Amino acid sequence: MIMNSDTFMFHGCDVAALAAKYGTPLYLVSEDEIRKRCAEIKRDFTDKYDNTRAAYASKAFQTLEMIRIIKSEGLSLDVVSGGEIYAAVKAGFDPADMVFHGNSKTAGEIGEALDAGVGTIVVDNLSELELMDQMARDRNMKQEVLFRVTPGVDSHTHQYISTGQADSKFGFSTEETVETAVPEALKMEGIDLKGVHFHVGSQLLENTSHIMAVEIIIKMLEDLKDKYGWTAREINCGGGFGVHYAGDPSRTKISDFVDPVMKRIEEAYNRCGDPRPMVTIEPGRWIIAEAGITVYEVGSVKTNAAGRVYAGVDGGFPDNPRTELYNASYEVEAVEKLKLPHTVKTTVAGKCCESGDIVAYDVMLPPLERGDHLAVLATGAYNYSMSSNYNRIGRPPVVMLKDGKDRLTVKRETYEDMLRNEM
Ligand code: LLP
Repeated sequence: MIMNSDTFMFHGCDVAALAAKYGTPLYLVSEDEIRKRCAEIKRDFTDKYDNTRAAYASKAFQTLEMIRIIKSEGLSLDVVSGGEIYAAVKAGFDPADMVFHGNSKTAGEIGEALDAGVGTIVVDNLSELELMDQMARDRNMKQEVLFRVTPGVDSHTHQYISTGQADSKFGFSTEETVETAVPEALKMEGIDLKGVHFHVGSQLLENTSHIMAVEIIIKMLEDLKDKYGWTAREINCGGGFGVHYAGDPSRTKISDFVDPVMKRIEEAYNRCGDPRPMVTIEPGRWIIAEAGITVYEVGSVKTNAAGRVYAGVDGGFPDNPRTELYNASYEVEAVEKLKLPHTVKTTVAGKCCESGDIVAYDVMLPPLERGDHLAVLATGAYNYSMSSNYNRIGRPPVVMLKDGKDRLTVKRETYEDMLRNEM
């Protein structure tokens, strides 16, 4: 981020000028930053360690253009629904390189994945396993699958984005994996059990949950070898690598997570002499969060009876539900007033008809007035992909920035677009 002018610059682009060109609210996404993150993943993981791969968790931000960028960077793709598979195929992504997740995949989606030739399906539960076996046999196929295992590790993050704890809606317990799921799968003609998957949570700022989880998984794999002579060909360690939001330390390094995890896996396989399985990671937020900002225009500015200053903006919950859902905190820049003293504690309010629609609480900003622009930082992940039309508000456009140039990659949703399915 470069901030050498009087107005806010983002990756060499003048944000006020882009707000004038495209209107607001507006998502700006830096392709340069995405590619930089992918390069770091290659340097510190896929090039550093043999037999590894990184799958971008596209739920964090999935547009056709984003998928094309990920494809050109040579990453695999994590998808979680028929819709994500469909979009990825449309963008030209090879299904063989996709990893399909979900705790409640429909039969329709399983069929779509099998027919598209999705390379890896992560099976969540026994009924899904049985259905997939049947559907693969009906097609004379043997589908490569991983088991989603819940290692029983509590990660220190918001409870709604913590997934590895014993009481989770995701996956098999280690006991169920060992006692039931693996022996069942080994008997199935439609299933090629390739390995296991775990994902402990999201926005993790330290590596302890990943380390505890991988130790549990290694132990479980040893049990499986002893019991059935089965050895895994892939261990998928999920995503969850944290980034910088307001109030957090700077972003985590991929190496902070993968080095200790790889050390434990390599030690275990050196001990037993078996070839080490492929190791996969699935970063989503880490690749895209800080590559994106949202630009709003300020409408009303007022001080309420309790003395709180509110700056109302032209977006909010429909383009960013994270403050309301997870208590997320964002840094905010006053685009045209960067150099003015930041003297007013301001709550940036969204425009929806509910009090909880707040973009950012109590940020120090210069005195604002109607027509000023605000840039909310690190909104690249789980904003556009979680956006809605609540209050019949259209989704903002997505403009990509590369080498100081801007290009529209998703158009603004119009009133008419919002009515397209209505009879
Ligand atoms: N792999 C699996 C199986 C996952 O479930 C997820 C995220 C990821 C990878 C990517 O996690 P990441 O690297 O992005 O942390 N909507 C929430 C985040 C939900 C994450 C769900 N699973 C938010 O806005 O914070």
